[in-house]
Amino acid sequence: MITREENVLLTDTTVGSPMGEMIRSHWIPFACETELPAPDEPPQRIKLLGEDLLVFRDSDGRLGMIDEFCPHRRASLFYGRNEEAGIRCIYHGWKFDINGSCVDMPSEPSSSSFRDTMTIKSYPVQEFASLGWVYMGSALPAPELPKFEWMGHPASHRHMSRWQQECNFVQAMEGELDEAHVAFLHRRLDNPQVSDESLFGSYFQQGAPRWKILETDFGLACGARRQVQNEKPFFWRVDMYLMPFYTMISPSDDQNSRVWRAWIPRDNESCWTICVTWRTDGPPDAMELGLWQDGVVAHRRVIPGTTIPMENKSNDYGLDRNAQRNHSFTGIHGIRAQDAVVTESCGPIVDRSLERLASSDTSIVAMRNLMLRAARGMVAGKLPRTSAGGNVYQVQTYSGLHDDMTDFDQMPHVLDIMGIQGINEEQVE
Ligand code: FES
Ligand SMILES: [Fe+2]
Repeated sequence: MITREENVLLTDTTVGSPMGEMIRSHWIPFACETELPAPDEPPQRIKLLGEDLLVFRDSDGRLGMIDEFCPHRRASLFYGRNEEAGIRCIYHGWKFDINGSCVDMPSEPSSSSFRDTMTIKSYPVQEFASLGWVYMGSALPAPELPKFEWMGHPASHRHMSRWQQECNFVQAMEGELDEAHVAFLHRRLDNPQVSDESLFGSYFQQGAPRWKILETDFGLACGARRQVQNEKPFFWRVDMYLMPFYTMISPSDDQNSRVWRAWIPRDNESCWTICVTWRTDGPPDAMELGLWQDGVVAHRRVIPGTTIPMENKSNDYGLDRNAQRNHSFTGIHGIRAQDAVVTESCGPIVDRSLERLASSDTSIVAMRNLMLRAARGMVAGKLPRTSAGGNVYQVQTYSGLHDDMTDFDQMPHVLDIMGIQGINEEQVE
């Protein structure tokens, strides 16, 4: 049970809020490299944690992120001129570089030193692992960039995309870590490929998995155990929540096909999703790549030229009642659109004080508790381990069949495969 006050603490990421400051202590991915502007191209708007910002690349190829609004009389610099190593406001010509320094103020007398005192809010930006990253924190120097397992594989093994989701970032992650929903929300009524013998098929054999949650130095390893028809009848899937807003969902039948997602607050009522899918054993074949690119599995198809998903609230997510009767549990096309309809339809910030949680929500409760603790820790001046970035994120999910009921965290070889080293004393379960 969560109170209304805790719900605010959990979901508010605006400047000065405990959760917002906790997140700002980390590097934040904000775009795929293919979306980033070229030198002197028009600036791009990006909203992050409630802040209206502009991304631009200057004439020297350096990427920067600054406040959208000119400090003079607040005109939007989106309409500005990106020229000769800076953005020039079209109202009175003030010009700012990527570091936020005012480098020209032609509307003031040349004798004035006012320009030297003038700055615009700016944040350090890095390009790393085919993503644009920004550091919005106050501690300097900025921490190390995070090193995820997928970054060690060649770019040819992966596909990445970004889209917008119309709900608070915590709500979106709750949908992600909700292992029990798979057996219902994503059920096909007509798909012979999902046989009961496949591991994916086993989700449908047992709708109520047994949970085991392990708290680690990066966040949570959320294990769900199902009983399946196999000579090794205990099927573990261990998904991960990595502070402050990452999830990795374990593979089903194909161990080499993996997924990572970042759920970045856009504002309190919407978030960005950046999704990376990759293969650990080589480039995907044409069929798998096609599925990723089409946004049918793992990714989300968007209206071309935008980050707005095709199936969205304005068109009832393309709900087809005939398909719902005959083909799928939802009648909605695409796994990610199915996830979006349930996480968005309860409103952009669900009132968690009204929920009636059950055992299937174990991982969600654990994630909320951990996040609340991190936000309260921030108020007390304590940063989570992940804010230092680096190799704390060098872990991977796990799924596998076992012949006895031992919990996944009691099997050293499983922890080894996952790369889990730092286990917190304080267990969450
Ligand atoms: S408002 Fe930008 S220069 Fe005046
Ligand atoms: Fe889902």
